[in-house]
Amino acid sequence: MKLNFNLLENFLLSFSLVVFFTTGLFGVQKESDFITSEKNKSVLLNPIKNLSDEDYDKFILGRSFIKIPWVEAPSATTARDGLGPLFNANTCNSCHPRNGRGNLYNNSNQISRSLIPKISIKSNGTKEHLKNIKYNGLVPEPTYGGQIAINAIHGVKFEAKPHIEYKTIEVKFPDGEIDTIYKPIYSLTDLQYGKLHKDSILTFRLAPSLNGLGLIENISDEDILKNVDEDDKNSDGISGRANFVYSHISKKTELGRYSWKANTVSIKHQTANAANNDMGLTTTIFPNENCTKSQIACNNADKARDPIDITDLRLDAMDFYIKKIKTYSAKKTKKYQEGLKIFKSIDCAKCHIDNFTTKSGIKIAPFTDILLHDMGEGLTDGRREFEASGKEWRTAPLWGLSLHQKINKKSPRLLHDGRAKDFQEAILWHAGEADKSRELYKNLKKEERKKLLEFLKEV
Ligand code: HEC
Ligand code: HEC
Repeated sequence: MKLNFNLLENFLLSFSLVVFFTTGLFGVQKESDFITSEKNKSVLLNPIKNLSDEDYDKFILGRSFIKIPWVEAPSATTARDGLGPLFNANTCNSCHPRNGRGNLYNNSNQISRSLIPKISIKSNGTKEHLKNIKYNGLVPEPTYGGQIAINAIHGVKFEAKPHIEYKTIEVKFPDGEIDTIYKPIYSLTDLQYGKLHKDSILTFRLAPSLNGLGLIENISDEDILKNVDEDDKNSDGISGRANFVYSHISKKTELGRYSWKANTVSIKHQTANAANNDMGLTTTIFPNENCTKSQIACNNADKARDPIDITDLRLDAMDFYIKKIKTYSAKKTKKYQEGLKIFKSIDCAKCHIDNFTTKSGIKIAPFTDILLHDMGEGLTDGRREFEASGKEWRTAPLWGLSLHQKINKKSPRLLHDGRAKDFQEAILWHAGEADKSRELYKNLKKEERKKLLEFLKEV
């Protein structure tokens, strides 16, 4: 008998060792390795669980290029020079604080650099314009390019400064409640390179959070495309289209996933894009500085010693870092379930989907379908990006919005340009395919609306 017991014990011990080794060492992945519902200002700075020593080193290397400010060339710190000539900010984290969402206004109440003015013109059908549309999704403004740089290195002029005014609109609810929403009217001041092209289209974009992007990248194309209903065959008023965009990495057209109009295909694509446009850093993907032909000082500015500021090794590490930061997802408490029920009952979850399973088998609740939706005239910016029309936007992922309060000690400004000060305003801007959902919201009992807003604050 005793012997048998020992055998059993040995068997159990070796069995648990096997389990330990397969999950711990050989990386069978669990939800809790990636996702946390802990809420504090450092959540998005932490790595996922069980990174090997080698992977942890790569994480730290990636982090350094995302966090530490870049400087202009030439500099003694050659590891991190090459900023500009034109740029909006000198680190990724100045627009994505602690890897979270950007602020609309900074602490001195000026428009924050996290809000980027972007600019393009209508295509006139010429070969050059069509080429731009094929590779960049739009035609950049001829003198200023696709984005307005609010900063520049020594000896080069910045491009312009953003300006916003607001027009107020009153919204009445069936029960008599009145709320005010604010329509932004954009312009640029201090234009340093002359007048803009007469057909310029100006749009403003707020920096989204980097929460959960690795998991979003791990959703299969098929699972995303399953929800496309371009002709609204199920007649629910919601269609959902994929953006197909040119990848400067694969040199092919692929499913767009990131940015407010899903115009980049991967974290690496978006990182190289951001490096070039937001910071003036070159990669092998975008090897040219972001100066237009007529910006002479920009073209003649001192170059860094290495022609490529972010080498492939560094870009890989940055991509790796963003993929391996912890993802925040709210705790599924009773209150959460109650809120989710209301959210679903008024069709919010038809676009803000709360259940995907990644290719690695991780269940996630990102609250997005990663598809484009026509959101109506109120939200249009008139700017086409690849397949996305002016009115179409990618369903914004809602997970992690609640971290903003922890990181910045203020509520997040919502929607692509941060126009909405709170969740109700954001909902009231929903139109087009979301017309019915917005009306359902307005018709909820006040108590129910309150519960839904409380839920959104926790997501
Ligand atoms: C000047 C501000 C600014 C800087 C600097 C900046 N970003 Fe961004 N970032 C933005 C804005 C604005 C968007 C949305 C762009 C759009 O929708 O067109 C964005 C979008 C992103 C996204 C897509 C997120 C999503 O959910 O779609 C990623 C990833 C990203 N940035 C990574 C980076 C990295 C990495 C760096 C540094 C190399 C960086 N950003 C630097 C402002 C900035
Ligand atoms: C037809 C699809 C659709 C439906 C239905 C829908 N949304 Fe959205 N939602 C979007 C899109 C697209 C955006 C981004 C719009 C923009 O930024 O201009 C968005 C943005 C948001 C935002 C702002 C997120 C951010 O990061 O700034 C919130 C909050 C939100 N939705 C909540 C809701 C709620 C609550 C409901 C239900 C009442 C709802 N949505 C219904 C598509 C939808």
